[in-house]
Amino acid sequence: MIRIALPKGRLGDKVYDILEQAGYSCPQIKDPDTRKLVFENPAAGVAYFCVKPTDVPVYVERGAADLGIAGKDILLEYSPDVYELLDLGIGKCRMCIAGYKDFYDDRSRALRVATKFPHIARSYYEEKGRDIDIIKLHGSIELAPILSLSDVICDIVETGTTLRENNLTVLAEVVPISARLVCNKVSWQFHQDEISKMMAALSKREAMKK
Ligand code: PRP
Repeated sequence: MIRIALPKGRLGDKVYDILEQAGYSCPQIKDPDTRKLVFENPAAGVAYFCVKPTDVPVYVERGAADLGIAGKDILLEYSPDVYELLDLGIGKCRMCIAGYKDFYDDRSRALRVATKFPHIARSYYEEKGRDIDIIKLHGSIELAPILSLSDVICDIVETGTTLRENNLTVLAEVVPISARLVCNKVSWQFHQDEISKMMAALSKREAMKK
């Protein structure tokens, strides 16, 4: 069986749907009452593990899963030693620098940047030669400039609603994001045929063309 690390939550639901459409179903996974974390469908040749999105690269890099689905944001932040096989074309959003519309960058001091993605933020500003002070948060990043904890944020923008409802705006786009199929390097060597078959089935999806 091919072992797949599925990200729990919003992205995971979409990802499971496209895997199901591609012929790799495991209906039990959709049971809203289940607390199970492992789901197997021997007939379809797949086992799914439901993991926290940021942990997907860990399971795949260390070979606990053969494949995983992770946002490009997670891959850029953690740089796991895995193969990135496919852009699934879902979970599309943008990594952005955001803040107040009238934000003025006082270059006489370090820019305070609140983020869940310190590596991405650091690389972005390093390239610009801008000295920054990273404030690592784990959620509700938009609060940081509102409370003057930071000057700007480096965060995911999907619909833009969270920024709008908090009177903030996109100041710069860092990188576009979407979900990627990633593969353990050893698994690729040993299961290349099954994995290639799965990639072909996923690539056929109509949504991929969008
Ligand atoms: C993400 C992100 C933004 C929001 C953007 O947060 O960090 O806060 O979604 O989406 P939008 O542009 O559609 O409003 P998430 O929902 O993951 O929660 P968090 O605050 O715990 O990070």
